[in-house]
Amino acid sequence: MKPLTRFAFIALFFVSTSVARAQDNTLSSLADPLIMNNGSKVTTAMQWRVRRKEIIQLFTTQMYGQAPARPANMTFKVFDTDKNALGGKAIRKQVTVYFNGKPDGPQMDILIYLPNHSKKPVPLILQLGFGGNQTLTNDTAIKISASWAGKGPGIVDHKATQANRATKPNTDLEMILARGYGFATIYCGDIDPDYDDGFKNGVHALYPELQGRGDNFSTVGAWAWGLSRALDYLETDKDINAKKVAVFGFSRLGKAAVWAGATDERFAMVLSNESGAGGVKLFRRGKGESIEHLCTVFPHWFDVNFRQYIHKDTVMPFDQHEVIALIAPRPIAIGSAESDKNSDPEGEFLSGVYATPVYRLLGRQGLPTTRMPGLSESVSGGIQYHIRPGNHNILTYDWEQYLNFMDKNLK
Ligand code: GCU
Repeated sequence: MKPLTRFAFIALFFVSTSVARAQDNTLSSLADPLIMNNGSKVTTAMQWRVRRKEIIQLFTTQMYGQAPARPANMTFKVFDTDKNALGGKAIRKQVTVYFNGKPDGPQMDILIYLPNHSKKPVPLILQLGFGGNQTLTNDTAIKISASWAGKGPGIVDHKATQANRATKPNTDLEMILARGYGFATIYCGDIDPDYDDGFKNGVHALYPELQGRGDNFSTVGAWAWGLSRALDYLETDKDINAKKVAVFGFSRLGKAAVWAGATDERFAMVLSNESGAGGVKLFRRGKGESIEHLCTVFPHWFDVNFRQYIHKDTVMPFDQHEVIALIAPRPIAIGSAESDKNSDPEGEFLSGVYATPVYRLLGRQGLPTTRMPGLSESVSGGIQYHIRPGNHNILTYDWEQYLNFMDKNLK
């Protein structure tokens, strides 16, 4: 090595170790996902299976709450199929999931678009959506959700009207289909309306025994459970490759998508768009949204036990990198936005860094770097991370990063 190169190499070493040390100062007491509850170190993939159960148990009791098994009497009804949708570009299907098999019981609609003329079952993105399925496109054949809706264009007395169609258009549906992927969406309000009602409405009504306890069936828990129920249907559909389903969520729904991917290993991939606090952001940094804010403004999102961590963000014994670790070795893409300080972009990145040892143990690269990437830079291993300029949103640039990640891992 030439002297100058050697100097540059040594300087780089010192800079990168001091960056790592600065991170360590804040995060030195972060839980090690590879230490068992009894203090022993996990060194094999087999031991990880045991440790994984411990972590699921921890987050189930302390944060996301218990969730029921797949209901034995659940039924599906495909009520619409159009082989010539979106001007011939897609096959559209709509399915109702009757959670307790009763037509007047809690139910959820799945809207599915598949690229037309595909010769084999397609990999697909399953989205948990903020609005009824009619908000996705102006395709007038889409059933208008009858479930409770929050404020928004075309919402009257908490019900969607025709004017609510295509009002959440930031899904690049045509691009997704053109790149060979299917897209399915469900409405979070079909599963559990997004307001605090003491955990009574939505699917909570079916499981009173999971309420009145610290580890109660929560709203984020219910949304994640609903994603798994949608996957139950997708597994029955021969046009879809259910072994290649990427679960997607943005913001509060990203929190649910991450937990769904963590607990349901049938999901092949997780796409977390600015999931922030209770999603992939680390709490321990004490940056961005706090547990106090989460639990007071949105008391229904997490279980009652989680409230004991209010003001304990920086000292609590678990953190969100362990939720990412539950996804390993399956791929996860994490997307942040520069101005989305509430989600603490660096905290979202560092979660991936601290989950990486679990990916490595399982024979896969996690994040390929410990250096926070620059704007519009994507770093991609078994964990991918990107940060783009702009606000809390889902933009074409974000979809492109997720589709590139799918091309690398699901094709
Ligand atoms: C609020 C909340 C976040 C959440 C976001 C959203 O900003 O504090 O935790 O992610 O809403 O869902 O849009």
